[in-house]
Amino acid sequence: MSSSILRKKNIDKIVADAAANADGHSTGLSRVLTLKDLTFFGIAAIIGAGSFSSLGGAVFSGGPGVVVLFIICGIACAFTAFCYSEFASRIPVAGSAYTYAYASFGELFAWIIGWALVMEYSVGNIYVAFSWSDYFTSFLEKLNIHLPDYFTCSYAEAKGAIEKLANLNAVEKVDFLSKKANVELINAWNNSSAIGGIRMIADLPALIINLLITYLVFRGVKESRNFSNVMVILKLIVVALVILVGGYCIFHNGLTFNWHPLNAKNEHAFMPNGFSGVMAAVSGVFFAYIGFDAVSVLAEESKNPQRDLPKGMILSLVICTIVYILLTLVLTGAVVFSKFENVGDPLAFIFEKDNLNVGWMQFLVAICAVVAMTSVLLVFQMGQPRIWMSMSRDGLLPKVFQTIHPKYQTPSFATILTGLVVGIPILFTDKTFVLDFTSIGTLFAFVLVCGGVLLIPRKEKEAGKFHLPYINGKLYFPLLLVVSIGLISYFDSTYFSKKISFNDEHRIEALESIIPNKGNFDSIKVVALVEQNLIQNNKQDSLFKGLIDTMAVRTNSTAKLSVVTKFIAAANTEQSKTQKVSLVIFWIACIILAVYTVIKNFSLIPLLGLASCLYLLTGMTKINWAWFSGWLLIGLVVYFSYGKHKSKLAQGQ
Ligand code: ALA
Repeated sequence: MSSSILRKKNIDKIVADAAANADGHSTGLSRVLTLKDLTFFGIAAIIGAGSFSSLGGAVFSGGPGVVVLFIICGIACAFTAFCYSEFASRIPVAGSAYTYAYASFGELFAWIIGWALVMEYSVGNIYVAFSWSDYFTSFLEKLNIHLPDYFTCSYAEAKGAIEKLANLNAVEKVDFLSKKANVELINAWNNSSAIGGIRMIADLPALIINLLITYLVFRGVKESRNFSNVMVILKLIVVALVILVGGYCIFHNGLTFNWHPLNAKNEHAFMPNGFSGVMAAVSGVFFAYIGFDAVSVLAEESKNPQRDLPKGMILSLVICTIVYILLTLVLTGAVVFSKFENVGDPLAFIFEKDNLNVGWMQFLVAICAVVAMTSVLLVFQMGQPRIWMSMSRDGLLPKVFQTIHPKYQTPSFATILTGLVVGIPILFTDKTFVLDFTSIGTLFAFVLVCGGVLLIPRKEKEAGKFHLPYINGKLYFPLLLVVSIGLISYFDSTYFSKKISFNDEHRIEALESIIPNKGNFDSIKVVALVEQNLIQNNKQDSLFKGLIDTMAVRTNSTAKLSVVTKFIAAANTEQSKTQKVSLVIFWIACIILAVYTVIKNFSLIPLLGLASCLYLLTGMTKINWAWFSGWLLIGLVVYFSYGKHKSKLAQGQ
C-alpha cells in the first residue's frame, strides 16, 4: 500500500482498467462517436456564450485590438490541444485532464485538477445558462411575449441593484434608472412577492434549460449526439451569416475607420485602451475557447479514440479560432468599440436600428444564440459526470458516482448531481462572478496538462496513433525567451524597471489627486465607490469606469469631457509606471523553465503551451485568485478527509 499523496497511476493500468470496465457490457458506455461527431462536439462546446455574450464586454475593454487576444488565446489553446491529444492518444479513457494528471503528477495533483475542472464544466454552465436565458428572453420579447422581470434575472443581481440604488444621490439615481437593464432589476425586486422575508426572484429560463439538458444527458449519448449535430450546423450557418452580412455592411457603408478608433489622447489606435485594456478582457475571451478539451472526456464513447480524439480536438479548435477572429473584426468594424458597454447580446446589437439596421439578422441571431448555447450546455453537462465517474473508479469519490443507468447506459447519479450543481447556484450567483471563476479554473487545469506532458516519458510513434512531435526545447525556448525580453525592452524601455503594483490604492490616490474643484468634491465617497465597484465587478477597467461615472454626474457637462480625458490619461500613465505581481511571477517562471529545459531537454510544444497559459493567467485579478484559492482549499480538505484513504492506489489495488 502506497501512502504517498504523489503516488502515480501506471498508464498501461489505466488503459487496462478502462478496457475491463468496457468489457462488462452492462457497465460499459456505448462506443458510437466518430471523428465527425467528436469535431461537432468540440464546436458545440466552444462556440456559445463566449461569442454571443461575453464578447461585448471584451470588445468594450480592448477595442478592435481584442483580436490580438483571440490570437494569443487561440495559440495557447492550440499548444494545449496538442498536449491533450498526446495524453488522449496514450490514455484513451474518460476523465480528461484529471486522468492525465494522475499518470504524470500523481494523485494529489489529479484530485486538484478534477476539483478545478468542476469550475470549467459546472460553473461554466451556470454562465452559459444565464446567457441562454438573456437571449431567450429577448427572443420572446421580439415575439411580444414578456415574462415577469422577477422570473428573468437572478436574485443576486436584483438585490445588488436595489442596494446600489439606495446608495445613490438624486442625480446618480436618474442616471442609473436611465438604463433599461437596471430598471428591469429594480422592477424584479419591487414586483416580486416575499415568503418569509425572502423575495421570490429566480432566473426561470436558466433553471428550466438546465433541467431539460440534464434530462437529455440522462437519456443517453446517442440522443444527445443527434441533437448536438443539428445545433452545430445551425449555429455555424448563422455565425457565417453574421460574418458575411456584417462584413458586407462594413465595406459597403465605409465603416473600416472603426478599426482605428480614437483613444484617450485623441489619436487613432487599434488598441484604444492600450494592451492592458486588451489583457483585461482575458476572462471573456478565454471563456470563448473553453470546450475543445471536453472532447477528451468522450474517449470511452468514441469508436477509435486514439486516432479521432486528437484530430477532433484540433479540428474544432482551428475552425473556432478562425470564426472568432472574423467575428471580432466584424463587431469592431460595424460599431465603434465604446458602444459595447454593458451589451450582453453583441452579435444582435450590431444589427440594431442605430447600428447596421438589419432587422431580420437581429431576429436570426437571437434564435441562433439560443441554439448555440444549448449545445454548449449539453456538451459540458455530459463532461462533468464522466470526470466524476473516473474519480470514483479510482476511489477518490464514493462508488455511487459510477452508477450506470441499466437502460440508457449513462452515468445516472453523476448526471443528476451535475444538474443540481449547475441549477442550485443559478438561484444565488451572478454572471460576472462565474465567468471569472470558470476561466481561472480552466487555465489552471491547462497549465497542469501542459506541465504533465513534459513529465511523461517520451514514446516512439505508433502507426495510426497521434504522436506529439518532439522538438528539443533546449535551444529554442531560452532563445525565444531572450528574444522576447529583448523585443519588449526595445519597444517599452521601462517594462522591466517598473515598480510592482501590490494593490490599487496608490492608483486611486493618484487619480483622486487630479480631480478638479477638489473643495467641492466628496473624494472619500469617490474612493469608496471605486472600491465597491472594484470588488463588485472584479475588473481593473471598472476602477476607471467608476471614477468617470462619478465625475460625469458631479461635474457640469462642459467640464465632463476634459475630466474624462484627464482621468484616462492619468490612469494610463499610472498603469504604465507599475508592473503587476503576476507578470513578475510569470517572467520568473519562464526563466526557471528555461533552466530546466537546458538540463532536462524538455519538449518545445508543451513548453510553449505551459508558457502561454501561464501568461494568460497574468490577466486574472487578485479577487479571482482569492476565490480560486478558497475553492482549492476546500478541495484539499475533502481529499485529505476522504480520497487519500479510500483511493484504490492507497489500498494497493
Ligand atoms: N466556450 C464556451 C462558450 O463560449 C464555454 O459558451
